[in-house]
Amino acid sequence: MLTEVADDALLPVYPPFPLRAASGHGSWLVDEEGNEWLDAYGGHAVASCGHSHPDVVAAIADQAAKLIFYSVAVPHHGREDLARALVRLSPAPLGKVFFCNSGAEANENQLNLARRKTGRTQVVTMLGGWHGRTVGTLACTDGARYEAMARRAGVPLSRKVPFNDLAALEAAMDETVAAILLEPVQGFSGARTVTDEFLGAARSLCDKYGAKLLFDEVQCGVGRTGSYTAAEHFGVVPDAIAMAKGLAAGLPIGAVLAVPSLVDDIAIGDLGSTFGGGPVVCAAALANIDVIEREGLLANVRDVSARIVAEASKLPGVVQVHGRGFLLGLELDRPAAEVQQALFSHRVLTGTSTDPRTLRLLPPLSFANDEATLLLTALRQVLS
Ligand SMILES: Cc1ncc(COP(=O)(O)O)c(C=O)c1O
Repeated sequence: MLTEVADDALLPVYPPFPLRAASGHGSWLVDEEGNEWLDAYGGHAVASCGHSHPDVVAAIADQAAKLIFYSVAVPHHGREDLARALVRLSPAPLGKVFFCNSGAEANENQLNLARRKTGRTQVVTMLGGWHGRTVGTLACTDGARYEAMARRAGVPLSRKVPFNDLAALEAAMDETVAAILLEPVQGFSGARTVTDEFLGAARSLCDKYGAKLLFDEVQCGVGRTGSYTAAEHFGVVPDAIAMAKGLAAGLPIGAVLAVPSLVDDIAIGDLGSTFGGGPVVCAAALANIDVIEREGLLANVRDVSARIVAEASKLPGVVQVHGRGFLLGLELDRPAAEVQQALFSHRVLTGTSTDPRTLRLLPPLSFANDEATLLLTALRQVLS
């Protein structure tokens, strides 16, 4: 017997924004009534070179017309070109690449690599850290509901230390630790930035105890800090980096970049994914990289971010501006959810965070100066 289909067949996931999307271009989302919304949420930090950039659209269409998909069972130049491009854009010696399909999967795989290499289980992560919804990444994610899900699955929880607390990090380290996993700029916790001192100590402690340093750059990578990797921005080279979100400008992708010493004994069959590194997603990611370089989007992030930080810091009700580049957290003197709601009536999209008073800005890397003016004007009106 066929099931009767309800109107609301979808399970609830995120609190929905008050519009129904019809199309998008650049920093703008167009609703079903034809209204344009300024997207300072960047399609969930995914629309890196803007929504539906014509070059990305053309690359997808061109590749889809030739071959939509074949797995890694058949070599394809797009997959190899993308791996080379990511290595070129990352600090040496990050030189080996594995493709999967999401941020959680990339984190899960880099954790597997660290545990495999060290023969250890324990992982040290940060309070405020968010790493995904597979059971392995839930165990590393801060928050009672996520830890409860990992516990129910029987997965041991990571040791969590306060972000940027050096003494706590030292105390958490010993010879049972396989890896320290952290976001150089924590996204969901409200764009909290790692200190140079803490990151340097994390590197030294990993070297001292034979553990691996893993960066989760799912949200803060792919140009969001103003350099292609956050690792480059902070000048510390981890043993691996997880990337996803903005990497293919909107198609699902995950990637692990690793130093050769982490993966020198990987054999055929140790890693795998049916869809990872498919031709269409690789074509989109290559076109995205091309746009980021040709349109100077990293410089745009640095310049426009500096202006947003300077002007937002002076707005009434803004206590402090956290973060780097286009991963910014406006710490407010009032609930961020109320400000987000008020911005909706100006047709401006922003994000909240796990800190109830921090509003998150994650615009596309192409967010222009005049779009920053619109955002700042709307913020001023809402906050005044
Ligand atoms: C820092 C970070 N890591 C991992 C993830 C999980 O990525 P995905 O939703 O693609 O699995 C996210 C998603 O928001 C994230 O922000």
